[in-house]
Amino acid sequence: MLEKLKTYRSIRKYEEKPVDDEVLKTLLGAALLAPSSRGLRSWEFVVVTDPDLKNKLSKAKIGGGGFLKDAPVVVVVMADPAVSDVWVEDCSIAAYTIQLCARDQGLGSCWAQIRLRKDGDGVDAEENVRQILQIPAKYSVDSIIAIGHPAEEKDPYTQTDMDWTKIHYNSY
Ligand SMILES: Cc1cc2nc3c(=O)[nH]c(=O)nc-3n(C[C@H](O)[C@H](O)[C@H](O)COP(=O)(O)O)c2cc1C
Repeated sequence: MLEKLKTYRSIRKYEEKPVDDEVLKTLLGAALLAPSSRGLRSWEFVVVTDPDLKNKLSKAKIGGGGFLKDAPVVVVVMADPAVSDVWVEDCSIAAYTIQLCARDQGLGSCWAQIRLRKDGDGVDAEENVRQILQIPAKYSVDSIIAIGHPAEEKDPYTQTDMDWTKIHYNSY
């Protein structure tokens, strides 16, 4: 597992090739089994393949989301905070489950942060995403995961990337 994780880098460039429907279903199925606080499964997901919508999503926040328009599919990860007070944690685990599963299927992925981000006019990125995808106001948007066949290679991490000074035993 650790050896695999060393190669799991964020991929922001993708081949112009769709993600197989069955493979996508595998990733989404994994997300639906992700651990969640009290098993409440507060998350919901919007799968986007439409080029115009992806282009709009790539501009929902200032900086760091441009790659969303280039991915064959992106998954918006959101939740109703009324369902769980720790919906952010629920969404984060589900989002990373999608990323891990994507890599396991030979795909690349990258997280685009939406929660707490703004666009160039100071408008909340969450509000932009809700508008673009007609998401009801009660949902908060955590992140968008871009998925596709990798068109870039990145060096795997090595032992030297592990900062063991961050690990503390029994007391700080
Ligand atoms: C909570 C979170 C938010 C992130 N937001 C963005 C983002 O908005 N745009 C982006 O390009 N990458 C984003 N990333 C990816 C990180 O930039 C990336 O994981 C980090 O630079 C380490 O690179 P690696 O994933 O290749 O190891 C995010 C990752 C996490 C976990």
